[in-house]
Amino acid sequence: MDTLSSIDAVRGWRGASEVGFVPTMGALHEGHASLIRRSVTDNPRTLVSIFVNPAQFAPGEDLAKYPRTIQQDLQLCADCGADAVFTPDKQMMYPPGFATWVDVEGLTDRLCGATRPGHFRGVTTVVAKLFHITGATRAYFGQKDAQQVIVLRRMVDDLNLPIELITCPIIREPDGLAMSSRNRYLSALERERATGISKALRAVETLFQKGTREVSILRASLVTGLSNHVDKLDYAEVLDAGNLSDIQRVDRPSLAAVAAFIGSTRLIDNVVLAP
Ligand code: PAF
Repeated sequence: MDTLSSIDAVRGWRGASEVGFVPTMGALHEGHASLIRRSVTDNPRTLVSIFVNPAQFAPGEDLAKYPRTIQQDLQLCADCGADAVFTPDKQMMYPPGFATWVDVEGLTDRLCGATRPGHFRGVTTVVAKLFHITGATRAYFGQKDAQQVIVLRRMVDDLNLPIELITCPIIREPDGLAMSSRNRYLSALERERATGISKALRAVETLFQKGTREVSILRASLVTGLSNHVDKLDYAEVLDAGNLSDIQRVDRPSLAAVAAFIGSTRLIDNVVLAP
């Protein structure tokens, strides 16, 4: 496996062949591994990037303490069959004088966008840059970051970027907790309480499967289910899964989405309700 630490090295490596691309911020886990393996299956060559993108952290968020585990990450990439890993530094991605941003409007006002100002502008900007640098054919993202995928699809369509986005299922721990790099912040007790998030989502899914379609009822069940487990609810919503607009009834593919704090750790999770 090659380690590429400059933009020219990535462009030289890419050549003419199709490339599957998995952008990450490192602290890799089984969720990332599933994206890399899928890319390895779909493409002749797979490139992973590892870059903790400062532009997507609001002031006061966990940029400084975000886990950095580069040696284990490189090993995981190699074990999953990645052909190369791109490890740019901040200077390379945001050189002095950097002044150009990609901003998807509307979709980024809701859910995580409402409480993490500037977060999606940071994501879309860095992902657009990475798409240009890598010239990748396909890019792989996890459904856990459902809003991120919706926003990135809008960006790719609006800017006519020649890349296909592929969304892969959420990978969960055996007790249901969605895998996340931030799970490693949790104490043993918090880790136990965190399972309340996926349990509340599963309860909503069961209600839906039994025939409940009213969003007010589904949402109330979500909020009640979460209330005993989480320390602070950021949001619990049931929305149109295509454009994140408000709905009264689940009469189209819909997203039940949660962001909540367990202690000081903010976790997100979701399920799709498909009538
Ligand atoms: O999902 C992530 O880890 C990040 O938002 C991404 C897509 C790598 C951009 O920094």
